[in-house]
Amino acid sequence: MFYKDRAGSAGSMTIPPAAASHAAGAYLPEESSLPKAKSSAQMPVAAVAPVRLAPVVAPSGPSLFEAVEKVKDDTLPRIREDLGECTRCKLHKGRNKIVFGDGSAKAELVFIGEGPGADEDAQGLPFVGRAGKLLTQMIDAMGLHRKDVYICNVVKCRPPGNRAPEPDEVHECSPFLLRQVDAIKPKVIVCLGAVAAKTLLQTTRGISQIRGEWLEWRGRKLMVTYHPAYLLRNPPAKADVWKDLQKVMVELGLPLPKKKQSS
Ligand code: URA
Repeated sequence: MFYKDRAGSAGSMTIPPAAASHAAGAYLPEESSLPKAKSSAQMPVAAVAPVRLAPVVAPSGPSLFEAVEKVKDDTLPRIREDLGECTRCKLHKGRNKIVFGDGSAKAELVFIGEGPGADEDAQGLPFVGRAGKLLTQMIDAMGLHRKDVYICNVVKCRPPGNRAPEPDEVHECSPFLLRQVDAIKPKVIVCLGAVAAKTLLQTTRGISQIRGEWLEWRGRKLMVTYHPAYLLRNPPAKADVWKDLQKVMVELGLPLPKKKQSS
């Protein structure tokens, strides 16, 4: 694998400022207008504050990622250069644009999705379609902006018909993802959905079992939560995601929205 062998930005939606979202008590949005208030009373701060590092079910032997050596002084431009006009897997045949990743190279928070959809493939940017609009609103609800975080995917080319990436595709592409995370050195990684979670953690545990727990991955804190596309189909799950993101906010020292005053 090349990685072992080595020597050594959104759509046209209008998003309200985070402060305004907080002031309105509008945290995680409904589909079109995401943040919809979940009162702090329903989600007490005490319930989200403790940090618990839960063990991940260990595969037998080192995972693909434990086996991958770090590239010294790696940078995002260098990783992009190494990726090139990639033809390592069959996904290149149907792609329009490689979706490398977007955001701050110094982000404390990295979101990892599954793979580009049609909008991402057309624009070359991650999470710019309908699910992306929701993710952007989630980021705003945390008091951040897209430019403050880094957003990328397990695979960088669109799987046909938006199917899940296949193991050979993940195998070829994920070393670049690892290098991106290593180069950015975030405090927290958030896996959006089962594909990202299973790819990074190499676990067979289902997403509903592992979401919302603090996990450890290559020395970094990792949180699994539901994919925004799932939230579009199941809006009630937004409450769970908001709980997960509040844990991330605590970890990053971000202020939690103030409790609503009861009149
Ligand atoms: N879904 C993903 O997992 N990633 C994207 O970039 C867009 C939609």
